Amino acid sequence: MIYPIVVYGDPVLRQKAVDIEPGDLDVKQLSEDMFETMEAAHGVGLAAPQIGKSIRMFVVDGRPMEDENMHDFVKVFINPQLIEENGEEWPFEEGCLSIPNIREEVSRPKKIRLKYFDENWTPHEEEFDGVKARIIQHEYDHIEGVLFTDHLTPFKKRMLKGKLQNISKGKMKVDYRVAIPVKSK
Ligand code: NI
Repeated sequence: MIYPIVVYGDPVLRQKAVDIEPGDLDVKQLSEDMFETMEAAHGVGLAAPQIGKSIRMFVVDGRPMEDENMHDFVKVFINPQLIEENGEEWPFEEGCLSIPNIREEVSRPKKIRLKYFDENWTPHEEEFDGVKARIIQHEYDHIEGVLFTDHLTPFKKRMLKGKLQNISKGKMKVDYRVAIPVKSK
């Protein structure tokens, strides 16, 4: 099932999402639906709040990327815990399916260590670096109610204010199904 993607301005993107209890919901089915939704929108990461569910889960799929090292990066993260972030901060241009047509450089630490469960409820503790870490950091922010635009300078934020308001009213071009938070008059 392909869900509409919630866009900037929807309060669900600002909530701190809650842990999933095993048995609460069918995480295998939900992860399949999230992969399908992400693929339809040509994304490389999608967090549950982006389909209107305030739960701690996200999926990643690096296969659309040119970099061959990203092609094995197809994963489900359930109840992830970021236990360490280190290494030098580096800038990388980020975008977000919930903020269409805006891309900006964001600086984040290069390495992370993460605890999480996969879709079979198998626990993992793993290190990631580079672009893989970056995608996880971006998705992890989503389940904390944080968007990549929050990391920009006050000047950049002012520059983007009008565009972000337009997105919340559905005034943008987008080639996937979205849920518009504010009905424009
Ligand atoms: Ni995003």
